[in-house]
Amino acid sequence: MRGGTGATGLLTTSPARAAAALAQGHLAVVPTETVYGLGARATDPSAVARVYAVKGRPADHPLIVHLPGVDALDDWACEVPGYARRLAETLWPGPLTLVLPRGERAGGHVTGGQATVGLRVPDHPVTLEVLALVDDGVAAPSANRFGRVSPTRVEHVLADIGTRLVPGTDVVLDGGACRVGLESTIVDATAAFPRILRPGAVSAEQVAEIGGVAVDTSRSPVRAPGSLAAHYAPRARVTLVDDPRTVAAQVARDPTGRPTTGLLALADVATPDGLVRLAAPTTVDELAAVLYAALREADALRLTSVLAVPPAGAGLAEAVRDRLRRAAADAR
Ligand code: TXA
Ligand code: MG
Repeated sequence: MRGGTGATGLLTTSPARAAAALAQGHLAVVPTETVYGLGARATDPSAVARVYAVKGRPADHPLIVHLPGVDALDDWACEVPGYARRLAETLWPGPLTLVLPRGERAGGHVTGGQATVGLRVPDHPVTLEVLALVDDGVAAPSANRFGRVSPTRVEHVLADIGTRLVPGTDVVLDGGACRVGLESTIVDATAAFPRILRPGAVSAEQVAEIGGVAVDTSRSPVRAPGSLAAHYAPRARVTLVDDPRTVAAQVARDPTGRPTTGLLALADVATPDGLVRLAAPTTVDELAAVLYAALREADALRLTSVLAVPPAGAGLAEAVRDRLRRAAADAR
């Protein structure tokens, strides 16, 4: 057993066991290349209802339906624009979610009552095996409690929701650490031009280039509740430090001498005295992959504050900045 509480009777490395759990109406936490997802068979309203209960998620927040392959697209969506089809055919399996008018199989219980559905094919070998075995859509939000940091390792899942799952029937499929570490790029594909609802590893430039259309940068009328500010936050207060030279001046002093403040930055930012270095990634890819584990580590160390230096650049750096801004926007 690993991962502490709640692991007994839940953890497995068998895709067949996860598929059987889903087919029988139970929940299966599955690894993806982005973050771990809390999965239920998407055509089973009572299993999907348990996903909301376990997460503590409001019922009007839609779930992403994970498909076994691009061939399933037209069962779940209708009126698929040419650019969306090109994106799906080129980037799936991969960290891209398409929001489309919902098709026959997509019931209101997965769409939060909306007329659209979020769809993606995740790029993780064991979960692709699960999806092929289930041969249905699997609705899966990130496997964390509502509003908290997404899990990128099985230990995070067990710590957040382990005790809310039922050993022996529900399962947690261990697929190791998630490669990308940030949630998928969400593209609103309900209009003539795509709009980015949530930045991720697939960049706006890729969407334009592969889709063969301009990306509409105006605000989307599509409601994506999880894109509220004050999401993705640890307990520690996160402060963004745009100029790394000012980090040292912002170290909070604790009268007892206990370290209170963590540093989250690329390795080229030095660690001033009194700060706890939470990670020292050398590339933006690495920073994305360790970001959520580092925020959780801050809480595990009972730090009260994290100074985060946002990375410069486009693509994944933009997605990292987006998540850091949200973590910092938390009002608690
Ligand atoms: O990488 C990911 O996308 C991960 C993995 C597990 O696939 N999933 C994930 O799910 O991040 P979740 O539920 O934590 O975030 C999904 C976001 C939410 O902000 C939700 O509002 C939005 O997608 N969404 C889903 N369906 C939508 C729809 N029909 N219209 C607008 N937004 C939608
Ligand atoms: Mg989430």
